[in-house]
Amino acid sequence: MNENLDIKNVLDFYAQAGVDATFAPSAGFLSEGITPPTPQAAQNSARPAVTALAQSAVSAGKSARDLCLSASSLNDLRQKLENFEGCTLKLSAKSTVFGEGNINAPIMFVGEAPGADEDRLGRPFVGRSGQLLEKMLAAVGLKRDDVYITNVLPWRPPGNRTPTDSEVAVCLPFLKRQIEFIRPKLIVLLGGSAANALLDNSDSISRLRGHWLNYKTSEGVEIEALATFHPAFLLRNPAQKAKAWTDFMRIVKKLNGN
Ligand code: URA
Repeated sequence: MNENLDIKNVLDFYAQAGVDATFAPSAGFLSEGITPPTPQAAQNSARPAVTALAQSAVSAGKSARDLCLSASSLNDLRQKLENFEGCTLKLSAKSTVFGEGNINAPIMFVGEAPGADEDRLGRPFVGRSGQLLEKMLAAVGLKRDDVYITNVLPWRPPGNRTPTDSEVAVCLPFLKRQIEFIRPKLIVLLGGSAANALLDNSDSISRLRGHWLNYKTSEGVEIEALATFHPAFLLRNPAQKAKAWTDFMRIVKKLNGN
């Protein structure tokens, strides 16, 4: 058997599954003759590390909040996000993907995080999910230029994994501040991650979708929000498109003041 071919097949399999980075700890101690720690010792030494990680997530969240509060405009916020080093996702991402679109839009769409295409191009919703989103917008008479599109996270999680709670907590102030600058009339939450992050709950998207809910900014402005299925979910589950269609009809009705 050709061993190189075997390795290539395994790597192709990982690449197709979206795995494009490795984060394994160095196994160098094996060749250097250093005895690896016993499981108990490893657990004991891991505790301070876990506490330190939790503390650094808290202070990153606080510094993100302070930074966002000090932003004087949307452009200033984008600049501050690009210089922000408090989220480790930035280390593996190629781009910082900020929101884009009509800054005077009455409607803002919020997704979860950039995928591979968005990371490559530095723009939100430009891959297959974005193409479906544009088709859904067109179906109700809207164009991409009519709306503002952004994500909870500005950096792609490696292999498109689900973001952790602390990654969401650290990045959330940047999304909240974008909402304060855009001041949309309506927010559409694409998928469970966006809905849970902004509405601060853990309900499933099936339970949340299709109902008008309220998002309150830190300045006390109430904005009507509707959660619906994420386009990536619809690509995998086309039978659910009918429900998303009814959600988009609700959105247009509300936009027209009905
Ligand atoms: N999925 C998202 O949630 N956001 C994007 O920008 C692309 C895919």
